[in-house]
Amino acid sequence: MKHLVSINDLDKDSAIALLDLADELKSSLLEREIRKLPTLRGRTVFTVFYENSTRTRCSFETAGKWLSADVVNISAGSSSVEKGESLQDTGQTLTAIGAEALIVRHPNSGAPAQLAHWLCPDGIHGPSIINAGDGQHEHPSQALLDALTFRQHHGGFEGRKLVVVGDILHSRVARSDLLLFSMLGAEVVFVAPPTLLPVGVEDWPCRVSYDLDAELRDADAVQLLRVQEERMKAGEAFFPSVREYAALYGMSKKRLAALPDDAIVMHPGPMIRGMEINFDVADSPQAAVLQQVNNGVHVRMAILITLLTGDREA
Ligand code: NCD
Repeated sequence: MKHLVSINDLDKDSAIALLDLADELKSSLLEREIRKLPTLRGRTVFTVFYENSTRTRCSFETAGKWLSADVVNISAGSSSVEKGESLQDTGQTLTAIGAEALIVRHPNSGAPAQLAHWLCPDGIHGPSIINAGDGQHEHPSQALLDALTFRQHHGGFEGRKLVVVGDILHSRVARSDLLLFSMLGAEVVFVAPPTLLPVGVEDWPCRVSYDLDAELRDADAVQLLRVQEERMKAGEAFFPSVREYAALYGMSKKRLAALPDDAIVMHPGPMIRGMEINFDVADSPQAAVLQQVNNGVHVRMAILITLLTGDREA
């Protein structure tokens, strides 16, 4: 595998191999006083972020550093992008500097795929492109860390149910979760106000429901999504008020109590407490949010090893 732009770059076996490697890395690092493996010594990776990020950028950087790679971080605000440099020129510049992988977050759907095409036209020579979230399109490393968290609790996916709640329309996490969890054998249910569902969702491999309470009773995990106001145009209104949104689609203490005891509450972050997730729910033992974050480092280590070494040697 050269790039990870979409969950469609994986098949079931390669997705499971990434999860297995992430689990192996997690347990082997737990026993170490010094969390440093030599696997990517002498290799250079760049994080190239055109949108804000806390979890994704820092965990990719940590993953690279724990593998001994040289990690260089670039954000649009502090680079020549501010001076008008194009994405293609920036990508070519970083390749000329020596980037072997570009971890890219961009507001435009398709930007990482376009970069892969420009910088590695034959699919062999050129840097690996890792999509760290592109517009409303995909966020594959997030879906992998969600799947790892789910598997650590439930052992597998077959016959299990993931309920994704909230702003599906603007969410790249929802799209990648759907592709990955359905490939792994889980049922995915989207719950959202009709205004926050994409056109054509009925053709996607998911079930759509408007009744959160009915879906919670037999859920194995609930993934709550932030309402992404930054992707809405000024004056657009998708629901009447935050209060009404929280009442219909927010994860309250009462809804938490309705979940099966072994079900988990997930959130890709950043959480808006009081809106899609209640304060007590976010801090409850069933919340797996920080476990997701921690898994993110190991999943991203597994991605870097797989793309840069082509094998599973850690
Ligand atoms: C998500 C993203 O950026 O798509 N966050 C993340 O990467 N952990 C979701 C969000 O911003 O709400």
